[in-house]
Amino acid sequence: MEQYVIKGGSPLVGEVEIAGAKNAALPIISAAIMTDETVTLENLPDVNDVNVLLESIAGIGAHVERVDRHTVKINGSTIRDCSVEYEYIKKIRASYYLLGALLGKYNNASVPLPGGCNIGSRPIDQHLKGFRAIGVEIEINHGTIEAKCRMMRGAHIFMDIVSVGATINIMMAASRASGRTIIENAAKEPHVVDVANFLNSMGANIKGAGTDVIRITGVPVFHGCTYPIVPDMIEAGTFMMAAAATKGDVVVKNVIPKHLEAISAKLTEIGCEIEESDDSVRVVATKRLNRTQVKTQPYPGFPTDMQPQMSVVLALSQGTSIVTEGIFENRFKYVDELTRMGANIKVEGTTAIIDGVKTYNGARVSSPDLRAGAALVIAGLQAEGFTVIDDIGYILRGYEDFDGKLRSLGAEIRKVRSEKEIERFEFSAG
Ligand code: EPZ
Repeated sequence: MEQYVIKGGSPLVGEVEIAGAKNAALPIISAAIMTDETVTLENLPDVNDVNVLLESIAGIGAHVERVDRHTVKINGSTIRDCSVEYEYIKKIRASYYLLGALLGKYNNASVPLPGGCNIGSRPIDQHLKGFRAIGVEIEINHGTIEAKCRMMRGAHIFMDIVSVGATINIMMAASRASGRTIIENAAKEPHVVDVANFLNSMGANIKGAGTDVIRITGVPVFHGCTYPIVPDMIEAGTFMMAAAATKGDVVVKNVIPKHLEAISAKLTEIGCEIEESDDSVRVVATKRLNRTQVKTQPYPGFPTDMQPQMSVVLALSQGTSIVTEGIFENRFKYVDELTRMGANIKVEGTTAIIDGVKTYNGARVSSPDLRAGAALVIAGLQAEGFTVIDDIGYILRGYEDFDGKLRSLGAEIRKVRSEKEIERFEFSAG
């Protein structure tokens, strides 16, 4: 199994290019099969989740041609099967976006139920509620969702919960239903907007994405297009937190500063200097940072995918901070690992009470999930001594060349495969 080994203590300094957003790329790759013409996707992040989903659409017969590391051509005209294999949904929950895409194009789909994951049970009842509202018959047989309908008809849908996945999945199917669909209490994340913009590039008629009311008028057919994926606000935020934790000076480039406002506001509040330009944000942290309180919310609130990284910074800050997880029920699994590095955090339900310490101490820790793994890397970058992080497969699912980008900012980090390589790194890094 691959690991990261880190020698902490170097402030991160320099510029880093942010990749396309994983959480926009996954639904957009799924939606790309909704036309029989060729779709070219640009600025795709080269991360495992994206590459697995490309395999899964090829697995049902779509033609997938990689033009370069960040550009792919997709043609859905050769799809022969509307059933997605369990092996794909097991590897990546977001294969459930193929439900909305296949329903939209073929009026039928068969996709295994996604299981839970380390951060929560993650039901999909809101997805199914939306599909049923537009006339889809849903049966769940032996762990697989069997969805079909003669003709989807627009409906007025009020989401019980603000759900990114459900908003996107319903939007995809409804974009091909006859008549108008209104989704109330819709998610407003930038990646929801990006999927709507992509669907409109293929000829859909979607208005209001980015607000809590999305209005869709179904169209009978989609055409091909070329579309660049929106920059990844969570990758950008992760590097911003790494700059703060290591008292560095980092410019994240190829971003949309507006998408980072909640993150920039919190970093400013605790004492960082933030400079925004058209497509970059600079984070400078020269002194010990201060306490604050954070509650994760749907966009434009503070993102849940930034909660572990924010906690790592606050666990080094002066005073007692409070972090409340407002979206998922079990997103503090990293706290036990961080405690082994010297953090002083008490978790009570969905709230963490954090007493800041001056420094972390390097230790061997394990990555419990994608964003928690990235947060432990940030802790290792600040820590005194060496940190080894196991199970980095989670991190590779959502961060392109994470260690390479960190090294370009001055971090002493290596991806290794054996104890021997760890010893060699520790010896050479002294
Ligand atoms: C997306 O997950 C992201 N994943 C998550 O990012 C992100 O944390 C989440 O949105 C919130 O922003 C992708 O986009 C692939 P939700 P999603 O539906 O769509 C409950 C990462 O690190 N819910 O907005 O699954 C759910 O349990 C990942 O990149 C229902 O109850 O999230 C949660 O408590 C982690 N029923 C809340 O709503 C449903 O039908 C929000 O979930 C759907 C969701």
